[in-house]
Amino acid sequence: MSNSQPPRRLDQLLSSCGYCSRSEARLWVRGGRVLVSGQRASAVDQKARASEVWVDGEPIDSPEGILVLLHKPAGHVCSHDAKEGPRVFDLVPKRWLERNPPVTTVGRLDKDATGALVITDQGELVHQWTSPKRHVTKLYEVTVDRDLDAKLIGVFAAGELVLEDERKPCLPARLEIVSAREARLELTEGKYHQVKRMFASQGWTVTRLHRSRFGEFELGDLPVGQWRRIF
Ligand code: URA
Repeated sequence: MSNSQPPRRLDQLLSSCGYCSRSEARLWVRGGRVLVSGQRASAVDQKARASEVWVDGEPIDSPEGILVLLHKPAGHVCSHDAKEGPRVFDLVPKRWLERNPPVTTVGRLDKDATGALVITDQGELVHQWTSPKRHVTKLYEVTVDRDLDAKLIGVFAAGELVLEDERKPCLPARLEIVSAREARLELTEGKYHQVKRMFASQGWTVTRLHRSRFGEFELGDLPVGQWRRIF
């Protein structure tokens, strides 16, 4: 994400930032809703830098792209499909889903899981941070259904645990037992339902799953359901 984007046609700019379609942009410009450097825009094919453009009295929203950290609440899905229930995207400005490209999550958290979730419209970042080659570190707080056994530390650290329906073993993971039924697990990969499946493979059921850190992004005191800009 750079803030030295070249000037673009107003209709392109407004539609890529999720304000309206390119054809609606003509009406917005005609209606005087769009200013360029404080002056009413003259035509939809006028070129401007996003930083000079205002719409309805406000600077254009996030013209350089979106990168935020959300504290995901339980009960929200990471899918774009509203039929699957409340979405994490319902917790960020509506316009972000209308952008081209729309915002998406960097990896996923299960519906019942909470914690650090990165949301962006930067496909390259999604690719980088979900690529198995990058080994992005994720820290999970886990509660299980019965008392933990210290043997799990070695099992998870060994790098030999092969989950059902997988060919490759899980990469070595660091488990820290913090109380009888609570632990912290640090992973450097993101297989499907990995934390729950790792514990299940050893006979434990995860009853609460919270991700406190994704890569370099720590939730800290960000309240549940709130987001903050990384960029
Ligand atoms: N592992 C899981 O089992 N679920 C998640 O949501 C994330 C990691």
